[in-house]
Formats: sequence, C-alpha cells, structure tokens
Amino acid sequence: MPKTLIKQGVIVTAADTYQGDILVEDERIVQIGQNLRPERDAEVIDATGCYVFPGAIDEHTHMAMPFNGTVTADWNTETVAAAIGGTTTIVDFAKQEKGDTLAHTAEVWKRRADGRTAIDYSLHVAITDLTDAVLDEIAHIVQSGVATLKLFMAYKGETMVDDATLLTTLQVARDVGALVMVHAENGDAIDILQRQLIAAGKTEPKYHAVSRPIEIEAEATRRAIALAKVADAPIFIVHVSGLDSLEEVRRARAAGQPVFAETCPQYLLLDESYLVLPDFEGAKYVCSPPLRAALNQEKLWHGLANGTLQAIGTDHCSFNFAQQKHLGAHDFRKIPNGVGGIENWIQLLYTYGVKTGRISLNQLVELTSTNPAKYMGLFPKKGTIAVGTDADIVVFDPAVEQTITAANQKQNSDYSVYEGFRIDGAPRHVLLRGKVIVTEGAYVGDLRDGQFVHANPYGAAYSTEREVTASAAEQIHHLFA
Ligand code: URP
Ligand code: ZN
Ligand code: ZN
Ligand code: ZN
Repeated sequence: MPKTLIKQGVIVTAADTYQGDILVEDERIVQIGQNLRPERDAEVIDATGCYVFPGAIDEHTHMAMPFNGTVTADWNTETVAAAIGGTTTIVDFAKQEKGDTLAHTAEVWKRRADGRTAIDYSLHVAITDLTDAVLDEIAHIVQSGVATLKLFMAYKGETMVDDATLLTTLQVARDVGALVMVHAENGDAIDILQRQLIAAGKTEPKYHAVSRPIEIEAEATRRAIALAKVADAPIFIVHVSGLDSLEEVRRARAAGQPVFAETCPQYLLLDESYLVLPDFEGAKYVCSPPLRAALNQEKLWHGLANGTLQAIGTDHCSFNFAQQKHLGAHDFRKIPNGVGGIENWIQLLYTYGVKTGRISLNQLVELTSTNPAKYMGLFPKKGTIAVGTDADIVVFDPAVEQTITAANQKQNSDYSVYEGFRIDGAPRHVLLRGKVIVTEGAYVGDLRDGQFVHANPYGAAYSTEREVTASAAEQIHHLFA
C-alpha cells in the first residue's frame, strides 16, 4: 500500500486542536509533525481548510437484524453510507436466538458482515436466553474478542430478560471484564399499557410513545444501576432519551458508581411532535425509547457537555416506510422500532452541536470516537490520532453546505427522519487503516475492506483479587480515564 501524507489540516483529538501533517504507512499513522516533506512515493492529500478527525466509531448499530417480524437494512448499503459520513468502525449488536450459543451468535453475525462491510466492525452480543451453558460461555466469548454484552429490559416475549438474568450477567461479566450494556425500559409495564391502549382502539403510531412514558425508562435505568451496584460491576445505559433517566445516571455518577451512558442524535434533534404526522407518517419516527417532549433535547446536550453522558451512538436500525413500517398500519405494536441515521450523524452533531456552541470540537471527537473506543475495548488501536494507531482518518471540510434528503441518501431506505435538515460540513476524504475509501465525498472502497476488530475486556488491568478496601468505582474510573 502506498504511503499517504495528509498535509496542512487542523488535527482534532479529544484533547487537542492543532495544525499538522500526518504520514500514513502500512495501515498505521507513523509520523505527525509540521511541514513533513512528501516522500517520493507518497500520495498527498491537501487538507488545507479542513479538520482532520479520527474516524467516528458508532458503538450502537443494528445491521441485518431480525426484529419485529422483519429485518433491518443490510451491511453492504449501510456501511457505505457510514463511510461517506465519516464513520470507520461500528460495534453491532449480535442478537442471540433463543437456545443458541453466544459463540454461534457471533459467528452468524461475522458471516453476515465479512465481505459485505465497507468499514471495520466489532460486536456486542445481546443475551436473550441465559442458560447455565450460556453463563459458562461468557468468559470464552470475551477471550474471542467480544467484550461487551447487551441485555434488553423491554420487548416482553421477545428479547426481554428478567432481573435475575440481569443481576447474574452483571456478576459474571464483572469477573471477566465484560461491560454490560442495557436497554432500560420496564417491559412488563409497557406490555400492560399496550394491551389497554389496543383494547381501547388506540392503534396509531403516537400510542407507541404513550405506552412508553419516560417514568418507565427512568425506573428501569434506576433498577439497572442498583443491580450493577449490588454486583459491583460497571454498567453502560444505552439510548438515554430524556431528563428523568439522565437524572438517574447523574445521581449514580455523583455517588461514584461506574455508570456510563449514551444518547443518540434522534433524541437530541427530534421530538414527539413528529409522531402525530398524518397519513401514518408518524410511524417513520417510531423507536424505543420514543421521541420525547422538545424540552428534553437541551437537557441531553447539557448532559453531553458536562460529562454526565460519555458517548453518542446512532442506534441505526433502519427500515423502509412503504413496506416495513406499514406492518403496523393497524396496530402500533407491529411497527418495527427504530430509525436510521448513520450517514449524517457526524454532520448533524457538528452543525447542531459544535456550531451552536453546545459542545466543543474536541467533545465531538471524544463523544463519537475516543470514548466509544475506550468503553468498547478498542482504544488505542481505534479512537484517536496518534503515532501507532490505525490510520482511520476523516478529512472534514467545514465549508460544505447541504440539505438532507432521502432522494440522495446512500442508506437503503425510502425516507430519512432528518429530511430537510440543513447540515454544514462534510467528509472530503476518509481513510480506513490507511486505505482511501472516500474521495471528494464519493465512496471508492470495496466491501471487502472492513475487518472484525478484536475488543479487549475493560478488566485487562482490573484484578479479580483487587483490594476489597478500594472501591470498584475508583478503579474503573481510573481505567477509563
Ligand atoms: O427502536 C429501537 N431503538 N430499535 C432498535 C433496538 C433497540 O432497542 O435498540
Ligand atoms: Zn447456533
Ligand atoms: Zn434499545
Ligand atoms: Zn439499539
């Protein structure tokens, strides 16, 4: 592979912003400096006027996932969309089918991804059926490079697990350094409310949100955090949608508990008013947790800026409107849950987060690349710009102005929840382990470029014989610092 010299860009990491040149060789960054001379065989990328970011890491995606009686959009289209938008790694949820092993679950997911992904990927396994054999498997799956587990406290009768499963998994995960991620909503309460709504003839999309009030998310968040404390284990709460659950995370962190949390662009930029659009269009916006009242958005931005929330993930879970969303035309419970957003998330966060002053440029990188890499066990191979790291690099031109429209998107869907949103800035060039996969905004890569990335357990340095006097919280904060 030829050497590449990225010249005169403004390099942005979670910690620093400075002008510099980056030399890439054999998939890695080998030199960073000022006025590096182009070697004879180096390809030169002029980054004048551009920011140079580490590739974004979306730690929350659902590719080709069977869900609600249908399947989400596939790796081949969605990872190309991701690449164009500046994402170079995803961490996808491999969902265990009842009765299956975790090893086979990961294998099935790798088979779907390999040869069909434009960017690198790592995996979480979502445990839906915790038998003794599966419990025994957790240590092995961590050794095989899958270091994060996911549990759903909602979706009763499908992927939902009970509190016994949650507590047991937290205990076992703690001992092997696996980070447990939870979808925190009270699935039993949702089930009751949904039956009552349907019995009363309330079948439209907006009742999806009525069946999942924020108290139901906040209660589950608090319960998950309490069980993590009992298990002396860290926990990662996915898709925090509003103030009440944010407050549970804030309170636990203030008490020193190792609780980490994510929000998603849809909760920062969209609100519940979309759910009442006529002609069933509200279904386009149905996701779980649901979109909330607009006043929650500023609270979440604030939570990102002040460190209550450590990461942003897209929860990319893309369906089309014409067929898939219409499965719920007569019953909101049958609308497949989820929205797409991996193509433009960095531009949206840059436009509505950085340019409005809600978060800094460094925080954008921290929240969308560095922290996701750390929590998911991929750092420092991924998640920053430094000598020795993978050359996953985005040359981002802040001068580009665009308007999002489904007509132009690479995501394989017939709509975008961000239709009509103005966005500033766009990736001009994207490198994946040194290979240019996007040039002048166009995808020039190959679906065989993406590789599985082995994730390390957070506990690589977290001794199981740790001093009982030292709090787990302190140790884990130290690890993730
Ligand atoms: O509605 C959503 N979020 N769908 C994806 C699955 C999940 O709960 O994350
Ligand atoms: Zn199997
Ligand atoms: Zn979820
Ligand atoms: Zn999700």
